Amino acid sequence: SVGNKIPRDPKYAVINSKDIDYFRSILKDPNQILTDKDDVDPFNCDWMKKFKGNSQLVVKPKTTEQVSKILSYCNEKKIAVVPQGGNTGLVGGSVPVHDEIILSLANMSKVESFDPITGVVTVQAGCILENIENYLVPLGYTVPIDLGAKGSCQIGGNASTNAGGIRLLRYGSLHGSILGVEAVLADGTVLDCLSTLRKDNTGYDLKQLFIGSEGTLGVITKLSFITPPKPTSVNVALFSCHSFDRVQQVLIRAKKQLGDILSAFEFMDRPCIDLVLKHQAGTREPFDDSTPFYVLMETSGFNEVHDGEKLSSFLESIMGDELIVDGSVATDSKNMTSFWKLRETITESLGKEGATYKYDLSLPIDQFYQLVAVMREKLDGKALVYGFGHVGDGNLHLNISTPNQSYSKDMLDMIEPFVYEYTSKHRGSISAEHGIGAMKSQHLHFSKSDPAIHLMKSIKHAMDPNNILNPYKVLPQ
Ligand code: FAD
Ligand code: MLT
Ligand code: ZN
Repeated sequence: SVGNKIPRDPKYAVINSKDIDYFRSILKDPNQILTDKDDVDPFNCDWMKKFKGNSQLVVKPKTTEQVSKILSYCNEKKIAVVPQGGNTGLVGGSVPVHDEIILSLANMSKVESFDPITGVVTVQAGCILENIENYLVPLGYTVPIDLGAKGSCQIGGNASTNAGGIRLLRYGSLHGSILGVEAVLADGTVLDCLSTLRKDNTGYDLKQLFIGSEGTLGVITKLSFITPPKPTSVNVALFSCHSFDRVQQVLIRAKKQLGDILSAFEFMDRPCIDLVLKHQAGTREPFDDSTPFYVLMETSGFNEVHDGEKLSSFLESIMGDELIVDGSVATDSKNMTSFWKLRETITESLGKEGATYKYDLSLPIDQFYQLVAVMREKLDGKALVYGFGHVGDGNLHLNISTPNQSYSKDMLDMIEPFVYEYTSKHRGSISAEHGIGAMKSQHLHFSKSDPAIHLMKSIKHAMDPNNILNPYKVLPQ
């Protein structure tokens, strides 16, 4: 793992055979308990193989009642627990730091109901995002969130990290789309806030506490969210630009001229394109000339003629004013997929390239790319610096990659705390969408004031007084 680990808190119990016997008695099916090292190991390690824990036990409940019994027992015995979804998180939140037991939601993967009038779907937390999409599409609906990890991440994990992704520009954050949450509290209490109502102002909106709190306040077992009708007319365009300033100009025009049909506006710099071309079979150079910046834009609507006209006049306007060097509009789904592949496989390609230091920042748009240039100068060729992200939402993914597979303290010291200080100085956020997890818990102060951190700690204490849920994460120790 990376960095210095927070020492194990001795107040937590070390699990013994009696505990395992108890879990067996409530879970019944032997497949719901993993204790063999080979079976447990994949759950101990994150997707990037960067964060590693040492858990001896994975429990895989099938019902809310089982989750409740597990937590109630752990609370009584002071056994620490990590909730785990698809384990695709990028900040080490989903794996144990030490020997916390792992509570996997993988067995809770049913879509429970769908209301064709309101478009509200109710699902168990362990549903894989892509499976929900596949359930909704034949009904004419779609999920309001989409991300590269869709084939593995679970909706409960998406909610717990308040994941952003490529549709946030159009459909807003999960804080708006999620209408109800059923969660199990640390002491086993089942909190039923599983409303399907669009409007409900009955005091504190408790479900919001579980959205983005990364499994530190409760285990989400079910949730309901609003789904939009699936657009029937989709266009995907790729542009190349000489400067980041032009990328911004194209964004302003896209917002003004495309309005409600604009559904994604993503950017990547040239090193990202080179990286993807190197690691992904079947990708090819998009244009004749190489330029420093690329934009992937999507429109989604319901009227091909109307959308086509809007897009044509937008293209005329940006080409006429020479905001772009080159551009291409995908006309069939094969081309659309290949454009999206250039953007969506950056993360995977970085994994193949070597050790990657990942930063997920919100920055004011005028400072957005400046940091990438500053880091390139600062690192002076000792590592490669990549800039990409959800520029339409002000979210930069700054990734720094070294060819060796292991992470070095010297490199980390060259990057941190500089990146966080820079972000803080410009009143940005040190986590735009990935969360805090284990990676940034000691850096929270760069984005939250002391009174804000104090209030967060009070909420945590009120809801989980024994601190059994995802300890060592999110809050500074
Ligand atoms: P996990 O990784 O298993 O867990 C994440 C956190 O949530 C942990 O703290 C865990 O304890 C907690 N948790 C999980 N399930 C529950 C539950 N039911 N109840 C309580 N706590 C729970 N993120 C973005 O925001 N935007 C992107 O565009 C994006 N793209 C990605 C692309 C790739 C290729 C990859 C690998 C990751 C990407 N991510 C992105 C990271 C993102 O946070 C996760 O993919 C996703 O939201 C996590 O879901 P998961 O089920 O894998 O959760
Ligand atoms: C993305 O937008 O591709 C993701 O957030 C993943 C990443 O930052 O690597
Ligand atoms: Zn992202």
